[in-house]
Amino acid sequence: MNAYPLQDQLQRPIHDLRISVTDRCNFRCTYCMPKEVFGDDYAFLPASELLTFEEILRLTKLFISLGVSKIRLTGGEPLMRRNLPELVAGIGATQGVEDMGLTTNGVLLGHQAVPLYAAGLRRLNVSLDALEPELFGRMNGRGYNPGTILRHIDHAVEAGFEVKVNMVVQRGVNESEIVPMAAYFKDKKITLRFIEFMDAGNDNGWSYEKVVTKKEILQRLQPTFELEALEHSYFGEVAQRYRYKGSQAQIGFITSVSESFCSSCTRARLSSDGKLYTCLFASNGFDLRPMLRSGADDTSLLAAIKNVWEQRRDRYSDERTEQTRTSRAKIGMSYIGG
Ligand code: GTP
Ligand code: 5AD
Ligand code: SF4
Ligand code: SF4
Repeated sequence: MNAYPLQDQLQRPIHDLRISVTDRCNFRCTYCMPKEVFGDDYAFLPASELLTFEEILRLTKLFISLGVSKIRLTGGEPLMRRNLPELVAGIGATQGVEDMGLTTNGVLLGHQAVPLYAAGLRRLNVSLDALEPELFGRMNGRGYNPGTILRHIDHAVEAGFEVKVNMVVQRGVNESEIVPMAAYFKDKKITLRFIEFMDAGNDNGWSYEKVVTKKEILQRLQPTFELEALEHSYFGEVAQRYRYKGSQAQIGFITSVSESFCSSCTRARLSSDGKLYTCLFASNGFDLRPMLRSGADDTSLLAAIKNVWEQRRDRYSDERTEQTRTSRAKIGMSYIGG
């Protein structure tokens, strides 16, 4: 049976659905949830406003019928959502899901890696910006030690996960960590992806000067490592991958500032309170929750989703300038999960 019966009805395909399961996070990364904005009295969403697992699964199935085959669970920090393995099992059992991943800061993986694996999750992307303890503690805003995350990564690998690591590089902050991070994860044969610092949200202190581009990162790596570029493995792949010569170990670059990739953007994003966003830098989303909670049938939900997707013209990263950084109100990465 065709798992994606309606996919031909869309002019531009949707391949991935990125689902945020909570807007909370136990970190306060300086580039994502600066402490000055996300203080102790910050009003996160109350539980009643979060989509239930049942609602998430219902929407997931509708998105799949439209062609989505790849699901990524995000947050905030997704491991802060209670009973997450239950949702993972539900998504994993849904016909048409060919790939499911989760993006996490890794702090809670010590307890959760095994139950998540048992529920059917196989891929984890763990964020880690530095190996140097003092620097990492400052960047995550909560003094967490990189040793904890490294131990949890090892534990997840032992549990059977395919793990990748995401490192956001900011000029004047953690460029000195580029080579040590590459060396550490090359040895572990874990793919490290360097992410260009983006002007996500409205208050993360972004400027062009603070972006360390893929080109510069490569220049820093080349004296130490011999790298060869690899082809994209599927249409719309976000990372550009390289292999270390003579090794199967890889690294990747996510170049949304220096080489944007909006023309191949096939990602839809669902916030934890049920809004559908068609861009990481959008100002507004389409609220599906009132429909879900007022008895709308699948046909009307599908019509609403299709309508939003067909109207999308997003190409924020293609159009980014110093002006767009502040002239447009943007949702934050912690709210929509990157
Ligand atoms: P894989 O399936 O493992 O390749 O996952 P992924 O790279 O799509 O997911 P991940 O959550 O690890 O995202 C890595 C980085 O890419 C994050 O910083 C995201 O914000 C960024 N990213 C992902 N999708 C987009 C996008 O559509 N636009 C932009 N500008 N950045 C994106
Ligand atoms: N620029 C680039 N990447 C970011 N992330 C969060 N905020 C930003 C930003 N401003 C990354 C996280 C995580 C992924 C989901 O997004 O580090 O790895
Ligand atoms: Fe950091 Fe991710 Fe939390 Fe944002 S959501 S503060 S990037 S760990
Ligand atoms: Fe897609 Fe928006 Fe990212 Fe461009 S900036 S790739 S349109 S999410």
